[in-house]
Amino acid sequence: MRIPKYYKESFEMLVPKLYDFIFNISLFGKAKKIRLKALRQIPKNSKRIIDLATGTGELAILTKELFPKSDIVGIDLSYGMLKRAKKKAKNKKLNISFLRRNIEDTEFSSNKFDVVMIGFALHEIPEEPRARIIKEAYRLLKKNKVLVIMELNKPKNIVFRNLFRLYLRIFEPDYNRANKFLDYDLERELKKRKFKYIRTSYHYLHSVKIIMCKK
Ligand SMILES: C[S@@+](CC[C@H](N)C(=O)[O-])C[C@H]1O[C@@H](n2cnc3c(N)ncnc32)[C@H](O)[C@@H]1O
Repeated sequence: MRIPKYYKESFEMLVPKLYDFIFNISLFGKAKKIRLKALRQIPKNSKRIIDLATGTGELAILTKELFPKSDIVGIDLSYGMLKRAKKKAKNKKLNISFLRRNIEDTEFSSNKFDVVMIGFALHEIPEEPRARIIKEAYRLLKKNKVLVIMELNKPKNIVFRNLFRLYLRIFEPDYNRANKFLDYDLERELKKRKFKYIRTSYHYLHSVKIIMCKK
């Protein structure tokens, strides 16, 4: 498996034990709520679901709780994050496959999943591999099935925007990349990669967006 250079640069710096706590604070204590908002838009009959860059598995675990009959796979490159994800799922007696894979090239067969999810990872990944990941998400999905992306967004209010930038400076492993992402047109990239019915909803003073689209 190829390990991308950008991955080595920043991601092993994330501290799995502290990640959930810090992430929740950074979303004003609303991390679970925002994930649930996204998950409630997923069709109830979704059987195979994959969480790309699953991290500590929060989204995958919540998905399994909401869709107990579905097969859930969470993939990530970080040993530490995956270890934590597996431990949390075991404690909750949830059967989820957590695997170490590169999300640019997941090694799964094409047209396999009913839902592909990517939560708060794309802003940490440079533009070229980011485009490859979107292409990979398209390949993994069955026709007419759903891609869900949760991401940071540029707040409209200038005071809040500056505070948000301060937050990025403190918490993001690569501030410049995350800050540049705020001006990146993700929806345009999705359109370019042939995704359709692209819908974006904005939350928490426009600092977070949820994008739903179909293959
Ligand atoms: C900010 S965390 C997001 C975790 C989770 N999705 C969430 O919503 O909390 C970003 C994750 O992306 C993973 N990651 C980054 N590049 C990756 C790649 N190319 N393949 C697999 N995982 C990757 C990192 O290891 C890290 O766990």
